[in-house]
Amino acid sequence: MKKLIAAALVAGMVFSVSSMSLYAEEGGPLVMATSAEFPPYEYHDGDEIVGIDAEVAAAIADELGMTLEIQDMAFDSILAAVQSGKADMGVAGMTVTEDRLKNVNFTDTYAEAAQVIIVQEGSEIAGPDDLEGKVVGVQLGTTGDLYCDDVNPRSVERYNKGFEAVQALLQGKIDAVVIDREPAKVFVEENEGLEIVDEAFTEEEYAIAIAKDNTELVDKVNDALATFKESGELQEIIDKYI
Ligand code: ARG
Repeated sequence: MKKLIAAALVAGMVFSVSSMSLYAEEGGPLVMATSAEFPPYEYHDGDEIVGIDAEVAAAIADELGMTLEIQDMAFDSILAAVQSGKADMGVAGMTVTEDRLKNVNFTDTYAEAAQVIIVQEGSEIAGPDDLEGKVVGVQLGTTGDLYCDDVNPRSVERYNKGFEAVQALLQGKIDAVVIDREPAKVFVEENEGLEIVDEAFTEEEYAIAIAKDNTELVDKVNDALATFKESGELQEIIDKYI
């Protein structure tokens, strides 16, 4: 037992030392945590992770004189990675919510977003209220997941990746998917027989998550975002993908 505790302590120390060094390290990389199955914000293109968030983050790193390192993980691990210092920032089409603000800082917002409902063509579901009594698929830990219970669904099926929920919908295992609007558009375009319900589920805004104690980085990223908004660079990146 003692040995176990000692090992845990050492592991904890190593962890905190290396996590401290990431951002502080002169010339070290700026580490971005993301979940790269969320087109057009972050997705794999061959070996590379591309998308709006990847490019915005690369531009921020450049502005700060740093190189960008991307760590791909499950969406619901991103905030823990940021809080523990394993990553400097979470850039993942992440919606600002009151609850998340208790655990991390958010930068200024950089995109308007929404949760929308995807259904099979011809479905009777025409808006959020129609999800009552239905089986709804979401990506684990997303705002779709967090807010879905409000409409009294029969059940909420939680998937690790958004497209797994879409796959289940195609197979008729679930009645609808609640997911962010831009990925929804991509998934509907790629798969026949699906449509997006006109009435949105929520309106939201995306921002970058940074550890509570790293206000210095929040300020720097906000300065960079302001520069890109003014120069049109942010819009250029968005226009490339949307
Ligand atoms: N906007 C939603 C949220 O913040 C979903 C984001 C999912 N992002 C991702 N890269 N998979 O909860």
